[in-house]
Amino acid sequence: MKEQLAKIKADALSAFERASDAAALDALRVKYLGKKGELTGVLKMMGKLSPEERPVMGQLANDVRAALEGALDACSEKLEAAALELRLKSEAVDVTIPGKPVSLGHRHPMYIALDEIKDIFIGMGFEVLEGPEVELAVYNFDKLNAGENHPSRDWSDTFYFDTNSRVMLRSQTSPMQVRAMETRPLPIRVIAPGRVYRKDEVDATHSPMFHQVEGLVIDKGVTMADLKGTLNTVVEQLYGAGTKTRFRPHHFPFTEPSCEMDVQCHKCGGVGCPTCKGEGWIELLGAGMVHPRVLEMAGIDSEVYTGWAFGIGLERTALRRFKIADMRLIFENDVRFLEQF
Ligand code: PHE
Repeated sequence: MKEQLAKIKADALSAFERASDAAALDALRVKYLGKKGELTGVLKMMGKLSPEERPVMGQLANDVRAALEGALDACSEKLEAAALELRLKSEAVDVTIPGKPVSLGHRHPMYIALDEIKDIFIGMGFEVLEGPEVELAVYNFDKLNAGENHPSRDWSDTFYFDTNSRVMLRSQTSPMQVRAMETRPLPIRVIAPGRVYRKDEVDATHSPMFHQVEGLVIDKGVTMADLKGTLNTVVEQLYGAGTKTRFRPHHFPFTEPSCEMDVQCHKCGGVGCPTCKGEGWIELLGAGMVHPRVLEMAGIDSEVYTGWAFGIGLERTALRRFKIADMRLIFENDVRFLEQF
């Protein structure tokens, strides 16, 4: 029995030493010290010993148990320390590594141009409105004096949602004229920027989605001179003092008289070059005096009030403002391009 105890002790101690983790160590504790363990097995045979031998063996067995328990504690502490060491190593943060630079985004060139336009108009007392991109044809056409047979209502030009051509993606921001007249107290001074949609193929100057900024002024005694004066001021602020403009007669259903405003070519100064296609001028916006019928349909007395409106293409303005040659660059969102502004 003495040898048995010595063997258990030796086996157990060397097994404890080799245990690789806490679970393995616990399994060994059960194997040697558990209720059905090896040491217990030996103790059960104590009854067979003579009365003289019993206390000696009892003492010996207790010593072995104490030794094993002590060794278990020591090994378990060692394993815990090793596990902690491993965790600290694997979770270590090297605070001396230089940080990753955070790349800051910035405004898209078109929105820079839009913000400039907004600033100019806000400075002149205009309010900025936003309106729906999914619009009723009543607002996009009817209340803007574009009758049932107006060519812009054609299915080949306009994105409709229904077969009755009542709901559509707005083809212009001009419905915001009507929405402003129907909801604002007079006098009115508003601009309304936003997306518009037309069935156009993508090329250097066209896109099925683009942006416009609508402008509307309604008050007593407003004339075409106010229109010209205001738009000339805006253009000078946008493109620099002394920028020349010209107004050409045009037609829109909702303005009478109507005009288009051109800006003198920034490249050639009006002589004619490829940028202005030899014209010396570049078309910038459509405008005109609000048609009396449009005022009346919105419930405004056209004998008392007059007004003017304009619609400017935002992409085109940004292209000019930043001397960009191709509109597709505006929508591609290639960071290498956008970073330049
Ligand atoms: N809505 C017109 C267009 O898209 C522009 C415009 C706006 C013309 C306001 C006159 C007055 O071409």
